[in-house]
Amino acid sequence: MRVDGTRRRTIWLEGDGRTVGIIDQTSLPFGFRTARLTRLDEAEEAIRAMRVRGAPLIGVTAAYGMALAMAESASDWSVDLAYGRLLAARPTAVNLRWALDRMREVLDITPPGERMARAYAEAASMAEEDVATCEAIGRHGLRLVKDMQALHPDRPLNILTHCNAGWLATVDWGTATAPIYQAHQQGIPVHVWVDETRPRNQGAFLTAWELGQEGVPHTVIPDNTGGHLMQRGMVDLCIVGTDRVTAEGDVANKIGTYLKALAAKDTGVPFWVALPGSTIDWTLEDGVRDIPIEQRGGEEVSDLTGQTRDGRVETVRVVSPGSPVANYAFDVTPARLVSGFITERGLCEATRDGLSGLFPDQDDRTRPRNAANDA
Ligand code: MRU
Repeated sequence: MRVDGTRRRTIWLEGDGRTVGIIDQTSLPFGFRTARLTRLDEAEEAIRAMRVRGAPLIGVTAAYGMALAMAESASDWSVDLAYGRLLAARPTAVNLRWALDRMREVLDITPPGERMARAYAEAASMAEEDVATCEAIGRHGLRLVKDMQALHPDRPLNILTHCNAGWLATVDWGTATAPIYQAHQQGIPVHVWVDETRPRNQGAFLTAWELGQEGVPHTVIPDNTGGHLMQRGMVDLCIVGTDRVTAEGDVANKIGTYLKALAAKDTGVPFWVALPGSTIDWTLEDGVRDIPIEQRGGEEVSDLTGQTRDGRVETVRVVSPGSPVANYAFDVTPARLVSGFITERGLCEATRDGLSGLFPDQDDRTRPRNAANDA
């Protein structure tokens, strides 16, 4: 998507064919900075410090992290070390494990002398696939947006989103935002309610910034406003992203998503979740019980960074000194609260049957049956 009118992606390979370029998202929205990753530890730090964030982008960055590791040393030991360090960088987004498993599978069957080139090629394919996947999520989600807009032809469709599942969270397009961008590009009037998303403000900082860059009408609201707007008929549709979906359709996403889903259920507002197939964790069923929830540093809750009126970026404390804080980064929305999934293969119900129907090649319950049928 565009930054000051110029098309950009969140991650790219620099001209030397080795260095990985990223948009440093910790500088947004008050400044635009890029960063260069040249070593495994820099890729690991970029994920951990959330210079890159969002499930799909974390996965692609980890893939490039493996390539950077192979450029340093391509031994079996280095493959294991890089895999372990990158996997531990952030626990909730399963795309990280998905990307690392895919890289390790490729590297395990590649002789050390060829591993570096193979790793860069695989990471580049993943980045390209992510763009195509998100574009397809947008195409399928657009049908939903069009259908809903047809119910209110006299006014823009009001869509609420939480956190940033925009292009900054992927390589391009985003997941939750892809249908919104495609609708906007086709002249379908949309307006986005952007949850600010405390504690790190991904909505107020990132989603608002990228929608603004694309000229999509939007309004930032405090996190506790959504329920009120839904009661007043001011939200037609919720679309959020996700970091991990269990085989039964439970959805982990940024803390606060669950409360929006509860309000949506109570008020009859459709609550859709956009995701690539790589976000489904087929090994888990009960998300509330089994999805690991990242807990981050308390300073993200006790402190706020913003811009002063004279343009300086400063961090201030917003919690009474001495009071303990808690920082759970994600929560789980049970499948029963989800109206459906928007994926690169189409729309489906938030159930195992729904997911298996679209991804029979990924679900162990249907995969052996297919293999038997093929034989
Ligand atoms: O902590 P973050 O900023 O990485 O959390 C991001 C989210 O929760 C997104 O909604 C999710 O990763 C989906 S991104 C397409």
